[in-house]
Amino acid sequence: MRIVVTGANGLVGSRVCEQLTGGGYEVVAFGRGARRVGGPGRWVSVDLTSRSDLERALAAARPDAIIHPAAMTHVDGCERDPEGAWATNVEGSANVARAAHALDAHLVSVSTDYVFDGDHGPYDEQDAPNPRGVYARTKLAAEHAVQVLAPGAAIARTAVVYGWPPAAQLNFGAWLVTSLSEGREVKLFEDQWVSASLADNVAAMLIELAERKLGGIWHVAGADVLDRYTFGRRLCEVFGFDPKLVLPSTLAAANLAGPRPSKSGLSVVKAQRELKTQPLGIEAQLARFHEEWRQSRAA
Ligand SMILES: NC(=O)c1ccc[n+]([C@@H]2O[C@H](COP(=O)([O-])OP(=O)(O)OC[C@H]3O[C@@H](n4cnc5c(N)ncnc54)[C@H](OP(=O)(O)O)[C@@H]3O)[C@@H](O)[C@H]2O)c1
Repeated sequence: MRIVVTGANGLVGSRVCEQLTGGGYEVVAFGRGARRVGGPGRWVSVDLTSRSDLERALAAARPDAIIHPAAMTHVDGCERDPEGAWATNVEGSANVARAAHALDAHLVSVSTDYVFDGDHGPYDEQDAPNPRGVYARTKLAAEHAVQVLAPGAAIARTAVVYGWPPAAQLNFGAWLVTSLSEGREVKLFEDQWVSASLADNVAAMLIELAERKLGGIWHVAGADVLDRYTFGRRLCEVFGFDPKLVLPSTLAAANLAGPRPSKSGLSVVKAQRELKTQPLGIEAQLARFHEEWRQSRAA
């Protein structure tokens, strides 16, 4: 099975590429510019916002499936640059969806819990989205573009993805480990509830959606919803860091440019019922995360 992975320099894309190693897959990794995160497969440099370049690259790759995590993901950056966010997240996803449909390749398009307002999560696949802010609105518009242009595609929503090693930029978990291991204090929101999701676990669920050609909306995230402060304290227990370094904070105090959902979280009951790859609970996630970190330090 030949799988194209977009955003292969990113956290999710690089983990998907890594997990596709062996197992009878042929990986074609799509990214912008040069490859900056190691991994298997042929590298194709292409900007998703160029419809003609993308169509040419996908036609040449002849994929059976496309896993599409590429996006402009910086929430405050999207707020400052709505044109850029629209071009990448909506038009880029529309370009991928159109080409996937034309090539009869099964598309798995990655989305986010930010499509919900965060007033009363956790949310399941039936709940009505109500995005706030540019990033969130462009991601919901991307979902609609995919549903219209690539019927039968999977829309896979995830949340607060973390893992070690970090990809091109630090993720939430990697930032915590880096700061705490150096004895630096971290301020974490005690009023933002999230489904923290280990990148490897998310990648495995995305691959299953691609392999089984499953369509519709899926929540592929960690199995537990907890606030970020509690996450930090739990991480200290597993990693042996000083819990006094973790300080409680609030969303309001951070005064962020882009709105963040407060009571968010994704219900993963559908994934638990229908996927072979199970969403991991927080204990199993943190144990694996610690092992990833320990092994990379030993290497
Ligand atoms: N990480 C999270 O906490 C989280 C939570 C919920 C949902 N998600 C969703 O999960 C997906 C993957 O997130 P991630 O954490 O892996 O993000 P990431 O690390 O920021 O990776 C995104 C990748 O997309 C690439 N990209 C951006 N614009 C592009 C363009 N015009 N053409 C080609 N490639 C482009 C970026 O390339 P450059 O490296 O060149 O910038 C980057 O490598 C996204 O759809 C995101 O919305 C993530």
